Amino acid sequence: MTEVNISCVIQVFDNLDELDPDVKDLMQNAIAARDMAYAPYSNFKVGAALLLDNGEVISGSNQENASYPSGLCAERTVIYYAGAKYPKSKFLRMAITAASKKGTTLEPIPPCGACRQAIVEYEIKQHKPIELYFMGASGKVMKSNSVANLLPLVFDKSVL
Ligand code: THU
Repeated sequence: MTEVNISCVIQVFDNLDELDPDVKDLMQNAIAARDMAYAPYSNFKVGAALLLDNGEVISGSNQENASYPSGLCAERTVIYYAGAKYPKSKFLRMAITAASKKGTTLEPIPPCGACRQAIVEYEIKQHKPIELYFMGASGKVMKSNSVANLLPLVFDKSVL
C-alpha cells in the first residue's frame, strides 16, 4: 500500500480591493447577478460571471424549482449558456459570490462538486485553465488558477 498526498494551492485576498481592477469588475458583475437569483427555497443566492476571450461577460444566478433537484446552480447556469452561445470561445475566468438571506456569508464559498465537474469539461475542451475567484457576500476572496486544481482525480473523457 502506498499513501499519496494530493494538495492544492489557492491564493487568498483580504477583500475585493486587493483584486486587479478587471477581476474586481468581474466580481461586481457576479454580485449584481447574485441579487437576481431565484432562490425562494434555500434563500441562498449565488451569482457567477464568466469572462470570455472575445471580451464578453456572461453572468447568471442559481435558479431553483419546487421540484428541488430540477434547480440549477449559478455556475452551471452560466457555463452552459456560454458553451451553448459561444462554442468557439475560450473561457478565461469565473467570479462567484454567494449570500444567505441574512447576507452574513463572509467565508468564500467554493463551487459545489457538480459545478467543478461541469466547468472542468470546458477547461479540458479548450486546453486552457479557467481561473476561479470565489467569495461569500463580502470579505475574503479565494483564487484557484484552474478548476482542475480544485478537482483532483478528475473524471474526464480520457477514461471513456
Ligand atoms: N448553489 C449554487 O448556485 N452554486 C454552488 O456551487 C452551490 C449551491 C445553489 C444551489 C441552490 O439553489 C442553493 O445554492 C443552495 O444549495
